[in-house]
Amino acid sequence: MAAAGPAEVVVVGSCMTDLVSLTTRLPKAGETIHGHKFFIGFGGKGANQCIQAARLGAKTLMICKVGKDSFGNDYIENFKRNGISTGQNVIVIVAGANLLLDSEDLKRAANAICKAKVIICQLEITPAISLEALKMAYSNGVKTLFNPAPAHAELDPQFYTHSDIFCCNESEAEILTGIPVGSPEDAGKVGLMLLERGCKLVIVTLGAEGCVMISVDEPIPKHVPAGKVRAVDTTGAGDSFVGALAFFMACYPNLSMEELIRKSNFIASVSVQASGTQSSYPYRKDLPQELF
Ligand SMILES: Nc1ncnc2c1ncn2[C@@H]1O[C@H](COP(=O)(O)OP(=O)(O)OP(=O)(O)O)[C@@H](O)[C@H]1O
Ligand SMILES: *[C@@H]1O[C@H](CO)[C@@H](O)[C@H](O)[C@H]1NC(C)=O
Ligand SMILES: *[C@@H]1O[C@H](CO)[C@@H](O)[C@H](O)[C@H]1NC(C)=O
Repeated sequence: MAAAGPAEVVVVGSCMTDLVSLTTRLPKAGETIHGHKFFIGFGGKGANQCIQAARLGAKTLMICKVGKDSFGNDYIENFKRNGISTGQNVIVIVAGANLLLDSEDLKRAANAICKAKVIICQLEITPAISLEALKMAYSNGVKTLFNPAPAHAELDPQFYTHSDIFCCNESEAEILTGIPVGSPEDAGKVGLMLLERGCKLVIVTLGAEGCVMISVDEPIPKHVPAGKVRAVDTTGAGDSFVGALAFFMACYPNLSMEELIRKSNFIASVSVQASGTQSSYPYRKDLPQELF
């Protein structure tokens, strides 16, 4: 699944197949209602992030497990096609094969992990495996980008000490700190709390408000706003942001973090202007070339 040469962005994470049906309301227990649309989408946080980084032009590698069935086969095809070696809803997740990714798999991929420029990890796989991957990368000087999603209140403290960048959204920040986040000021407060747990830089994303960053080097919160756009579907915006950030970190190591975040806000704000998750993620060729 990798492009030629060592991968710049390695993602250890999840693949999910979304079976989506649109209805005017949710069915009650035991009730059957008609949906007006049905489609199958490719999702899973790790895969989404990897797809966005690849569409911007990063050499990417995805470390994941899929089932030995038609959904698994279709997912592999989706990665190949991408050049990789709103409303109320109810979601049922069957983690399935994602939880089977284990230490042996990481050892087999150790070479790629240690040669990457950036690694992305999240929590849709077994947390201990995510942490192990993060540690492998961190001890080899690979920049680690950790997205604590879905959030657990009892996050192993080593996730903080092995994150160069710790990137969460408002609700995840609240689960981790117990403090509700509703404004850039709140985000600055929780950002500082998370920073004190040992990460080098914290980003709290704030939807249409963009995000707030705070770093060990400059422990004063900085609000980086997103541009005003007409949002049609914000699903997967967070993963677009994380994937874009990994791409920019890997390919533009000399730009300031604020500049990298500004560019990533722009990419994610493009993704909210189209419907779907991966289907809304922009390709480099369709973006203003001054971004690159
Ligand atoms: N309405 C919007 N207008 C402009 N940019 C947006 C909008 N919503 C999201 N974004 C961009 O996407 C980034 C991530 O959004 P958000 O904080 O909603 O992530 P999230 O909650 O993880 O997303 P998800 O809907 O996938 O769970 C923001 O930091 C911003 O750059
Ligand atoms: C934050 O991300 C999680 C997925 O990890 C999502 O369920 C939640 O709705 C998001 N929160 C906000 C405020 O967008
Ligand atoms: C980044 O900066 C370093 C040190 O200043 C320099 O050696 C390197 O060539 C620069 N890289 C790029 C891609 O500009």
